[in-house]
Amino acid sequence: MFKILSNKELVPNIFEMVVEHPRLAAKAQPGHFVIVMPNESGERIPLTIADYDRQAGTITLVIMAIGTSTMKLVALKSGSDLYAIIGPLGVASELDDYGMAIMVAGGVGTAPVFPIARGLRAKNNRIISIQGARNKDLLFWTDKLAAVSDTHIITTDDGSAGRKGLVTEPLREILESESKNIGCVYMIGPAVMMKFCSQVVTPFGVKAVASLNSIMIDGTGMCGGCRVKIGKETKFTCVDGPEFDASQIDWDILLSRQKMYCDEEKCSLNKYKNAHEIL
Ligand code: FES
Repeated sequence: MFKILSNKELVPNIFEMVVEHPRLAAKAQPGHFVIVMPNESGERIPLTIADYDRQAGTITLVIMAIGTSTMKLVALKSGSDLYAIIGPLGVASELDDYGMAIMVAGGVGTAPVFPIARGLRAKNNRIISIQGARNKDLLFWTDKLAAVSDTHIITTDDGSAGRKGLVTEPLREILESESKNIGCVYMIGPAVMMKFCSQVVTPFGVKAVASLNSIMIDGTGMCGGCRVKIGKETKFTCVDGPEFDASQIDWDILLSRQKMYCDEEKCSLNKYKNAHEIL
């Protein structure tokens, strides 16, 4: 059992959970993830380690409550225990000296972008972060991301904060003016956002890295649930990723696999909401 030290809603349906786990905190690196079970019968939920404090022995998870399992997870109160947590899993981010790096964070993708931006900055990279959300009420960790960025740009679909529009617009503009100086573009967020960011970056010949959130079950490379097509090869997101060369990802296969269990997920969520009288 692992103690939940705090669990708070940052913005509607996105929660920040701090968990006591000194061994995980000691080993966590940017890019790593964990698999969490809220209770004995719970589904296994993959979550990026969004932050860690080695001294305090804690890790921070950011959870978007969109399905039955994530709703059960965020319902756990501060002071209660997580049934199981395994990790760190996945391959850590390559924190090279790129000179300058662009970090594109869409929606809940801000959470995994943060430790990578911090790590790259510690390697003396200049960081330009572009943080996008549908509206101002869905933006979180703006101060945290700004604190590890030399330039921090906000975009919202409706213009309620920052610049009105999509993250791809400032991304294209920066590449047009500075592509020679930019060593890497990281993109983390909804798959469709990463697909379009990748399409923007590819013509400039700049290294592009996307962190994928494919469906996972065991998280150890055995079930095949998280398989993705990278170039001509099949890779497993849990052990080969979650980060891949964005220009080589078959986005259409990824997007269609993400929708595979939509009907079952809707059915399960409706049952859960009815049982708990959630509107
Ligand atoms: S989650 Fe099973 S192989 Fe990756």
